[in-house]
Amino acid sequence: MCSNLIDKYNIPGPRYTSYPTVPYWENDTFSLKKWKESIKRSFKESNDKEGISLYIHLPFCESMCTFCGCNKRITRRHEVEGPYISTLLKEWELYRALFDGKPTIKELHLGGGTPTFFSPENLAALIHGIVRHAKIAEDHEFSFEGHPNNTTREHLQALYDVGFRRVSYGVQDYNKTVQKAIHRVQPFERVKKVTDLAREIGYTSIGHDIIFGLPFQTKTEVAHTIERTKELSPDRLAFYSYAHVPWIKGNGQRGYNEADLPSGEEKRMQYEIGKGMLSEAGYTEIGMDHFALENDTLYESMESQRLHRNFMGYTASKTQLMIGLGVSSISDSWYGFAQNVKGIEEYEHLIREGVIPVYRGHILTEEDEIIRKHILNLMCHFETFWDDDTFRFTELPDVLVRLQEMERDSLLEILPNGIRVTEKGRPFVRNICMSFDLRLQRHKPETRLFSMTV
Ligand SMILES: C[S@@+](CC[C@H](N)C(=O)[O-])C[C@H]1O[C@@H](n2cnc3c(N)ncnc32)[C@H](O)[C@@H]1O
Repeated sequence: MCSNLIDKYNIPGPRYTSYPTVPYWENDTFSLKKWKESIKRSFKESNDKEGISLYIHLPFCESMCTFCGCNKRITRRHEVEGPYISTLLKEWELYRALFDGKPTIKELHLGGGTPTFFSPENLAALIHGIVRHAKIAEDHEFSFEGHPNNTTREHLQALYDVGFRRVSYGVQDYNKTVQKAIHRVQPFERVKKVTDLAREIGYTSIGHDIIFGLPFQTKTEVAHTIERTKELSPDRLAFYSYAHVPWIKGNGQRGYNEADLPSGEEKRMQYEIGKGMLSEAGYTEIGMDHFALENDTLYESMESQRLHRNFMGYTASKTQLMIGLGVSSISDSWYGFAQNVKGIEEYEHLIREGVIPVYRGHILTEEDEIIRKHILNLMCHFETFWDDDTFRFTELPDVLVRLQEMERDSLLEILPNGIRVTEKGRPFVRNICMSFDLRLQRHKPETRLFSMTV
């Protein structure tokens, strides 16, 4: 990888789990009324055809991992579980009141925080409460994020019994110094144990999350982590670039210095080494930061061009409507986005009052819909095509100027009616998407909003 390309393109940029990206939502023109209308419309249009997705945020963790950029509450008081689950079920009821029919659940994901902070009984009660008023799609995908240190056979069995077949374990890195720096000490044997248990119970997709670019990581540590990962052959791997965003309140990324983080060039080499080792072991790169074996649905969906990206990252199929329940969750109605309040007390208070607890959101304009299409195409398929009908906006010449610069750097090919990202350009796909991101181009951020693109 050429270091001057990294110097040139390693800039702060969005990860494009939505377009427009959250900092560019027009909160002033958003209202709860518009949000409810967009949910009703989307449900009517899509539930019978493809079902809906649910993301449920379970924010509690027993200890703070200092690399983690997610919304969480550190506590050892497990009495919080019951009231939180009751509130989630009431929130689900508030959404169901907007549906004109029984929802069909196609995808359901439990994310965190630490979903396995909750007892197996409470997790089963949550899922029973959700599906009691819904149909489950035949080809449903139910998944959860498991913490290797506290996932038990009982957790895996209880969730398997209510339809879960996919689990992703937060591994991050296997080296002691790195694990200590990120406050996440978990031996390989522990990850092996929960991986084997999931297989034994019948889970068909076991994923491991690994991060490169962590404090004190070098190429050697990354290679060691991948080597050990290969021994367990997870079906799917998320190989994330560490997002250093210490300015986000309460995320706890303060246990080390910026000087302890690898440089942009070192970080990119870590990814390339990992990628090489994974492809030798039979994994295919999916999108920007995922790898899968050929038996995994993520691989199949890439092959059949059905790969989709939303707030959960890459998903094997698209539903038009995705409802996010729980603190800080983001919902996507295809016509709009909305995010729930982040504080647990405020969330519980609003639900008690019978109010859908969103505090910000965005309704897409016609132009947003066009740009989103191209950004999704690029993030999922590394190419996008347009014709006169779908690519009508005045800034097109400016977009092309930005793309021509990248074509000179051999990151992409400009075709008569579209672009294709080259192999060399894949690491810079976020930069390529930024050329289309008219909201970002019109109002360049004055403060740091995003992590670095490499
Ligand atoms: C939201 S976390 C929750 C999963 C669960 N609590 C656990 O850690 O085992 C899911 C994944 O997000 C990734 N993640 C969290 N913070 C990150 C960051 N700052 N940069 C990159 N990836 C991150 C980690 O790989 C983690 O496994």
